[in-house]
Amino acid sequence: MRFIKLLLLLFVIQTQAQQGGIWIPSLLKGMNETEMKNLGMKISAEEIYSVNNSSMKDAVPQFNGGCTAEVISDKGLILTNHHCGFDVIQNHSTVEHDYLQDGFWAYKMEEELPNKDLVVMFVVRIDDVTTKILEGVAALSSEAEKQKKIQENIASVTNSSAKESWQENKIRTFYDGNQYLLFVTETYKDVRFVGAPPSSIGKFGSDTDNWVWPRHTGDFSLFRIYADKNNRPAAYSADNVPFKPKHFFPISIAGLKENDFTMVMGYPGRTTEYLPSVAVNQIIETLNPAKIEIRDAALKVQDRFMRKSQAIKIQYASKYASVANYWKKWIGETKGLRKSNAVAAKQKFEKEFQQKVIKAGKQAEYGNLLTDFEKNYTEIKDYALARDYFTEVALRNSEILTVGYKLYQLEQILNSKGEQSFTDRKNNLSTGIDEFYKDYNADVDRNVFEQLIGLYAANYPKQFLPESLKNIDASKLTTDIFTNSKLTSLEKFRSLLEGDSKTVLEKLNNDKGYQLIKSMTEAFSKNVAPKYDELNLKNIALQRTYMKAILELSQKSDRIFPDANSTLRVTYGKVKGYKPNDGVVYEPFTYLDGIMEKYIPGDYEFDVPKKLIDLYNTKDYGNYGVNGKMPVCFIATNHTTGGNSGSPALDAKGNLIGLNFDRVWEGTMSDIYYSPEICRNIMVDARYVLFIIDKFAGAKNIINELKIIQPAKKK
Ligand code: ARG
Ligand code: ASP
Repeated sequence: MRFIKLLLLLFVIQTQAQQGGIWIPSLLKGMNETEMKNLGMKISAEEIYSVNNSSMKDAVPQFNGGCTAEVISDKGLILTNHHCGFDVIQNHSTVEHDYLQDGFWAYKMEEELPNKDLVVMFVVRIDDVTTKILEGVAALSSEAEKQKKIQENIASVTNSSAKESWQENKIRTFYDGNQYLLFVTETYKDVRFVGAPPSSIGKFGSDTDNWVWPRHTGDFSLFRIYADKNNRPAAYSADNVPFKPKHFFPISIAGLKENDFTMVMGYPGRTTEYLPSVAVNQIIETLNPAKIEIRDAALKVQDRFMRKSQAIKIQYASKYASVANYWKKWIGETKGLRKSNAVAAKQKFEKEFQQKVIKAGKQAEYGNLLTDFEKNYTEIKDYALARDYFTEVALRNSEILTVGYKLYQLEQILNSKGEQSFTDRKNNLSTGIDEFYKDYNADVDRNVFEQLIGLYAANYPKQFLPESLKNIDASKLTTDIFTNSKLTSLEKFRSLLEGDSKTVLEKLNNDKGYQLIKSMTEAFSKNVAPKYDELNLKNIALQRTYMKAILELSQKSDRIFPDANSTLRVTYGKVKGYKPNDGVVYEPFTYLDGIMEKYIPGDYEFDVPKKLIDLYNTKDYGNYGVNGKMPVCFIATNHTTGGNSGSPALDAKGNLIGLNFDRVWEGTMSDIYYSPEICRNIMVDARYVLFIIDKFAGAKNIINELKIIQPAKKK
């Protein structure tokens, strides 16, 4: 008995310690299969990724470059997040047919809506091409020469590797330049909109609930892939037919419980898990606080105006949401890094690393890495801070500066490419810029500018500050610019662009707003960018060697996974709650009851559609409910990041149980440091998705296409 308890304990410790990691599907067999099975997986690695047979990876395309989707029927039906389909849904919406507000459902295939420029990409095959890419590189002495040679090798291997005519070859680096994989991909270009719930379901909780658990968002939308008669990618045509996938996911409504195995497949964008402690410390102490402060100031102003005017709310809603998304993420990330003592943990790792280097007799090769990092990151600090300030203020959050920057680029084009290019760009700008001004309010921007330019003048490293911003009075400067600059309206902007190049440049250089952005950009290009680039290149080279050393000196049990790089990955874990704070425990499941608790009639974030309230009152949940309750979202220990949105959440048998869409706030530091204690991904439960399609929308046509695994009959 004792012995069994001990064994069990060991098992628990092992499986808990072994969570996290973003793995390569073609390498699961050697690296992860045993561990996945220990965690409860019932299928084999071969069923997830197979070179010769259809496998799960054939049902997981990247959705429009930045998200993930999954195929759920043999007629090319795919599921992704509502927030991933948001732009498409918005594009189809008019005042009469507001699909964002009311939702949309195609009750027949003919009603599905085609989309310009919407694509999904499948991975056909993954091959290791490291040796070919690194051929002749080690012999070169400078980092710049090495990079050039690598780029040449990538180009030649990309061009010479076998593929079908409708496929593409793409090479991506893993482990910071220590491994190169070739992806053969297929990109389908006729993807039609099939359905989405109203925003009061698909975006329920909006920014207030974003990055937060407990969550109640039905974040899903449906699309269908169309192909030509040979099932190959083709541009939109009325003759195209529904795509026949090699694999699609059955959907399980059999139910879930805490500690069940889950896995997520998708296209995570970027993580930096192997940064040295000095870099992590810089993020916590310097870079994140600066970016948060800037966005905080901009968001406060916008929010004030949006609350006062419906027109401004419409103009700024989308901009606000996207700025707020990472603002909120960075706050959570900074807190989480502090709370989990990430810097101390990295320092401990580095101490052990140093000992391993000595033990392996590799001092000559790796002995100076950490001191070099220390030196380099100390040196880059002010440059990196200046770069973040410039990016956040001039290129992102002060609109008058961002639009002025476009004109600065126009002037550069005249200098570098001549009259013709100048005229082309000028004409493009003059017509294209109305999109920008349609959503521009000079009053809002003026107030944002005053705040941000004040922060810039006060906190941008003094030694790099342009003359134009030394000893300024932010309020006076703002009045001066917003009274005199022609960048504040579409008509005035266009008037600046009238005339030949000489006239235009004269007008530009007499404009106060233009003068300011030009001085800021030139100071940045001269004082900051060259040195930043030089130091950054050094850090990239150091990181590559550091990663090489970590790999060489590690054991398999160390579980060294490559950082996310927008390629197809697998992550796995268990359904699990967490403790965000002392005395607080979060359960892993939420229910429709929670939606009713959050319900604020008429509120733009927490309103609930009448039909959903009716279904709640009559408890009309069909087979999707459990014990009289309707599940909505759940969390697990899968290690995900931006780009994993829309990813399939799968059970031990490879059936779809949910759709990934977010992470919990306390755990957003997982991009830098994953802690199994508090890092959780958030998924919408497949049962809620089906309930909405079936009971809320009455789209039986969609339900009938699916392969649904029912709960076992109660005896
Ligand atoms: N935080 C999620 C992600 O990073 C969802 C963002 C969309 N929702 C929003 N309220 N902005 O993409
Ligand atoms: N919401 C993110 C996405 O859109 C996912 C995440 O960052 O966890 O990809």
